[in-house]
Amino acid sequence: MAQDTLAITDSRTNRTYTLSIDQGTIRAMDFRQIRTGPEDFGLMTYDPAFMNTASCQSSITFIDGERGILRYRGYPIELLAERCTFLEVAYLLLFGDLPTDIELKQWVNDITHHTMLHETTKKFMEGFRYDAHPMAMLVSTVAALSTVYPEAREIYDLNNRLLQMKRLIGKMPSIAAMSYRHSLGFPYVYPDNDLSYTENFMNMLWKMVEPKYVANPVLARALDILFILHADHEQNCSANVMRSVGSAHADPYLTTAAAAAALSGPLHGGANEEVLKMLDEIGSKENVPAYIKKVKDGHGKLMGFGHRIYKNYDPRAKIIKWTAEQVFQVTGRNPKLDIALELERIALEDEYFVSRKLYPNVDFYSGIIYQAMGFKPEMFTVLFAIPRTVGWLAQWQEMLSDTEQKIARPRQVYTGHETRQFVPIGQRGVLASASL
Ligand code: CMC
Repeated sequence: MAQDTLAITDSRTNRTYTLSIDQGTIRAMDFRQIRTGPEDFGLMTYDPAFMNTASCQSSITFIDGERGILRYRGYPIELLAERCTFLEVAYLLLFGDLPTDIELKQWVNDITHHTMLHETTKKFMEGFRYDAHPMAMLVSTVAALSTVYPEAREIYDLNNRLLQMKRLIGKMPSIAAMSYRHSLGFPYVYPDNDLSYTENFMNMLWKMVEPKYVANPVLARALDILFILHADHEQNCSANVMRSVGSAHADPYLTTAAAAAALSGPLHGGANEEVLKMLDEIGSKENVPAYIKKVKDGHGKLMGFGHRIYKNYDPRAKIIKWTAEQVFQVTGRNPKLDIALELERIALEDEYFVSRKLYPNVDFYSGIIYQAMGFKPEMFTVLFAIPRTVGWLAQWQEMLSDTEQKIARPRQVYTGHETRQFVPIGQRGVLASASL
């Protein structure tokens, strides 16, 4: 079959170039041959914020933003959320296939036996200020794990790499729970290996003086579903950081800490915290139209709305809405849900949001569930970081085994001065004012 090609004529030289098209893309490096002469560097592409640049080939997560489709390794997210546990999905993301019964038992056992934190890590966390943001504590503590496991630098030793990945997935809930208890001034709770991943997390968060923590099964399952929905989302901001920092061969703890730092931003994982602040600010259903007008007038954004990729309803938001109903049957209805539903109803009919294809994203409803479950808004992004660690590690592994990848290093279009004359410090202001 003939190869698809793109013919480009350079009006500067009248030369025509034929570039290959493969999987809907052309190679940016193919532009380099387009030059005006031997001294010319060759053409580059300019793409701030990577709006139209594929930085890798990946077989992990598929998103069709126009049609609102999300699949992990080929399985629709709706199916995985309904039929699997989070650790089953983690296995799928990391190894490419759903585990057999024996593989899953071994995997769960492995992760469970890596939930404990070294006592020095516990002491490290005790040093944080009483009012430190839990996400800042998480980022710093994940980075600090690099001091506990220096062998993690051997990233091309496959057994070693797998061990560090298990440690990260196992320890993330422990660090998250410790950061939560630290902010409340409560003593830390050690992991309980009899419990499932999410039940154990709830145990470390909320156990007080009872001898054995018993998690509410509806809430544990809801958390598990939320973890599945947040596990990966292809080349988002933090995954891109994971790949970029990882491409310099930093160890997985430092690389994951960098990705988590990216997640903390309010335009990324921090949005769910912002949604709650916004709902508080709106206060009641009656104030929704005025708030929407304010956003349309350019004063702030509707947090939890809009997405770089989804130009349709985020499929995760649909599942979260359903999960919210299950949670509210246990916790009672979060009154903020009514404000959120009204906000969604009005926005989805409004020309401003319709024409820009702005729909609720994953963060719009997740915070409302988390709050109903008893989490403070500062914890929301931490809850996002726990499952996303799996996605980051899957992306990192794929990047390391991709022979086309090298250290990530974009180009720039330089817009600064040409060579300038150096002015000694004593003459600087003088010369400038003399020339006025
Ligand atoms: N409220 C009001 N207007 C919006 C919003 C919003 N939430 N999002 C985008 N717009 C407008 C934007 O002002 C622009 O309008 P115009 O064309 O008149 O200048 C237009 O829609 C296109 O927006 P954009 O900023 O070019 O889109 P982007 O792809 O760069 O940004 C986004 C995507 C998610 C950063 C943005 O929609 C946003 O800031 N949303 C609110 C924050 C949020 O909910 N983030 C969570 C994202 S999902 C979870 C995750 O990935 O972590």
